[in-house]
Amino acid sequence: MSKLPVTGTIEIAPSVLAADFAHLADHIARVENYVNILHIDIMDGHFVPNLTIGPSVVRKIRLHSKLFFDTHLMITDPARYAPEFIKAGADGITFHLEAVTDPQTIIKQLRDLDVAVGISIKPETPVAALAPVISEVDMVLLMTVEPGFGGQHFLPESVHRCAELKKLLRPDQRLEVDGGIDPTTAAIITKAGADTLVAGHAIFTSANPAAAIKAIYNATN
Ligand code: DX5
Ligand code: ZN
Repeated sequence: MSKLPVTGTIEIAPSVLAADFAHLADHIARVENYVNILHIDIMDGHFVPNLTIGPSVVRKIRLHSKLFFDTHLMITDPARYAPEFIKAGADGITFHLEAVTDPQTIIKQLRDLDVAVGISIKPETPVAALAPVISEVDMVLLMTVEPGFGGQHFLPESVHRCAELKKLLRPDQRLEVDGGIDPTTAAIITKAGADTLVAGHAIFTSANPAAAIKAIYNATN
């Protein structure tokens, strides 16, 4: 099982949502040697108005990659399905605060299953809503677009939300951002404290994904 990289680095997490689902193994191979984290978006058509993949696909791509599988559950019942994604090869599970009534219990359940634990908020959820649980997670995922679809524009209000969130985190906790990340927005959001950058379209629609990763990384220095 891969570990979430310790803090102190900028990590870029390609989002397979923007890869060609008919050629997933090939597309993952294009990024495998250039990053440590692969971001996998799970959508159920209820929490968000889109459907993606289930544990069976995760199990198959696990055979083709050694990367840390950062599994972003955009589903209404993360407690029910997280164990299946972990069995399939997820290394980290991120669930949405908005989807659950008792985040503490889910965090404990995930700890017992020995995965990295992340919690995410949508653009309209106040950062302060995370306060009761923030100390218990390894990573917070700040959505910088409305979850559900790739290729959207970065929401500018994300910058001050990121800075606000950074103040609530310990140095050993990662701050991930997701949606509309490209070299321009990566430069802005890392200055506000983000250290883990999910990028779908900016990487997988490029003819040269490795160069696209490098361009995002270089923009943050
Ligand atoms: C959106 C997903 C994102 C998405 C980002 O709900 O959570 O991970 O793939 O895609 P881009 O980078 O294309 O905005
Ligand atoms: Zn995502």
